[in-house]
Amino acid sequence: MTFYHQIWAQMPISAVIIDSQSIIIDVNASAEAFLNISRKVAVGQILWQWLSGENALHRSVDQFFTKRVPIKITEVLAHGRQTAESACTVHICELKIGLQSEPDDVALLLFIPMETTTGGMRGSDASSAAAYSAIGMSETLMHEIKNPLAGITGAAQFLSMSLTAEEKVMTDLIVLESKRIVTLLNQVEQFGDVTPPNSTRVNIHDVLDRSARSAAMANLSSVEIIKDYDPSLPEVWGDYDQLVQVFLNLIKNACEASDKKVKIIIKTFYDPNLKLPLSDLSGPKLPLHIQIIDHGLGIPKKIVQHIFDPFVSNKKNGKGLGLALVSKIVTQHKAHIGVASKPGFTEFRVSLPISPKPKRN
Ligand SMILES: Nc1ncnc2c1ncn2[C@@H]1O[C@H](COP(=O)(O)OP(=O)(O)OP(=O)(O)O)[C@@H](O)[C@H]1O
Ligand SMILES: [Mg+2]
Repeated sequence: MTFYHQIWAQMPISAVIIDSQSIIIDVNASAEAFLNISRKVAVGQILWQWLSGENALHRSVDQFFTKRVPIKITEVLAHGRQTAESACTVHICELKIGLQSEPDDVALLLFIPMETTTGGMRGSDASSAAAYSAIGMSETLMHEIKNPLAGITGAAQFLSMSLTAEEKVMTDLIVLESKRIVTLLNQVEQFGDVTPPNSTRVNIHDVLDRSARSAAMANLSSVEIIKDYDPSLPEVWGDYDQLVQVFLNLIKNACEASDKKVKIIIKTFYDPNLKLPLSDLSGPKLPLHIQIIDHGLGIPKKIVQHIFDPFVSNKKNGKGLGLALVSKIVTQHKAHIGVASKPGFTEFRVSLPISPKPKRN
């Protein structure tokens, strides 16, 4: 067995080699388990008889053979015959193996389960529906609660004028708590605002700098923010103020994720190959990526599937509205947000569209 054969056999990542007709040329041991098929049987068979997955996977393989560019798709669901479905990152790339057939007609597919790479990436798309259904409810609540609250506050203030200092403590409490509820309702109101983004060309690094400044100021413990920006990044297409809301909430959460000294990394990069399985491949491209990384406690397992839903929080004074608002804004921008978290590492990644070229007169 050659050195390369040994690596191929022992690689803990499922690897499949196919030709342009999707005929399997080889599979490694990990792929045998993933597809639930022995190498002997697999070779010569059509991959799709043994592999089921989202349409994006088929389209990406077709696209690879048409365009001959490496493709990476994240969060794609795939499984073999009678095996459990899992979310994977799939890399499709060219492989020169010196076969008699055209070497360009051969593709290497790598299936990397998300939970072993980054702790499980999850997009916000599913929860945006939940977010929207909460909007109607919150608007009704707003009306029903805000008006009587103004009356209660006014009445308490009027009463306090004829009370002793000792008794005033009670009316002050009524006023204070009412104000707290109004603040909460205002936040919910902002969440229910469905005005579409007023998109313009935006320098994302300006947005990130502003968000980082505000988040760091609001956080009492000391925060070290490491900016790993790609200065050549083109402008994004989005609503400046809404994007500040997005990153302010993400950076605030990162600050709150640790009670020790906090170190947060904000990284920007360009990756045109990153395809989103949930969006149509012919849909808008999202090549600009922003990562917010912290090394705090990680997202508690029991809420990780619901963090983009409104009112989900594990914080003492948390309202659980930050990420719901983020999800809503990202959805309205036709952008994408993914999260990966395990104890000691949490990454939120926002992928945005590039701004269109200005029209020349
Ligand atoms: N970087 C992170 N690390 C660990 N957990 C996080 C992180 N970001 C979000 N979470 C988890 O997701 C939950 C929801 O976050 P979200 O921002 O929606 O609400 P919140 O921060 O609790 O309250 P609010 O933002 O409304 O004040 C948080 O309570 C926390 O448990
Ligand atoms: Mg928050």
